[in-house]
Amino acid sequence: MPLTTDPAPSVSDALRTRITVRAFLDKPVPEAISKSILETAMRSPSGGNLQPWNLHVMQGETLERFTSLATARTLRGDREDPTYRAYPSPLWEPHRSWRYKLGEDMYALLGIPREDKPARLRWLAENARFFGAPVGLIITGDKRLEMPQHMDIGILLQSIMLLARERGLHTAPQGWWRNWSSVCHDVLDIEPGQHVLVGMALGYADPEASVNDLRSDRAPLSDVAKFYG
Ligand SMILES: Cc1cc2nc3c(=O)[nH]c(=O)nc-3n(C[C@H](O)[C@H](O)[C@H](O)COP(=O)(O)O)c2cc1C
Repeated sequence: MPLTTDPAPSVSDALRTRITVRAFLDKPVPEAISKSILETAMRSPSGGNLQPWNLHVMQGETLERFTSLATARTLRGDREDPTYRAYPSPLWEPHRSWRYKLGEDMYALLGIPREDKPARLRWLAENARFFGAPVGLIITGDKRLEMPQHMDIGILLQSIMLLARERGLHTAPQGWWRNWSSVCHDVLDIEPGQHVLVGMALGYADPEASVNDLRSDRAPLSDVAKFYG
């Protein structure tokens, strides 16, 4: 399916046209639009109505300072303890193969061979720029949260992603930021006891960027669902 930049007229359409966009246009998102998306996303449900999320929404000068710092630290090869592990290790089938294929497909589109480590690092550093998006979001949460609250935050992410499509915008959810607590704490006003859970880029997709041609596969429903009559 080609990249759709038109506003999605229905939830189904928003779901079908949402992809992770990894190249954004240098075009600002009016603050009224980003605010309205986030206001509506606040209607997301959470177990016990805990609403266990805290949002840090960056644009303009702060975003520039934040992404410059993150990019410099990434390219310098800095490492820090991530807030959490990205995947179980070792990963098992079929998840391992899905993950592998996504990486292979993406680097093929980018024309970056597996062995070209500097080029891969430069590409990874695009994460640190929120892929050029004009709005960068960091979601933090209390360190005492349990697993169900992390599911709640996933629901919030999906709400934002679908509402963005309704406005003709695209997103990239980014676990990447779990690696860069230092940058988040250096730039943002994060309350003590909170940690960085996830980030998201929000903006207008670049239709010319080949990486936005990436379409990830899905297992057929019959592989993951059992129906009981
Ligand atoms: C919670 C979450 C974190 C993610 N983190 C990253 C990330 O840090 N960098 C990235 O390029 N993609 C990230 N992704 C995008 C996934 O790779 C993508 O959603 C998946 O491959 C399915 O592709 P699609 O979103 O285009 O449908 C993340 C997705 C989710 C849901």
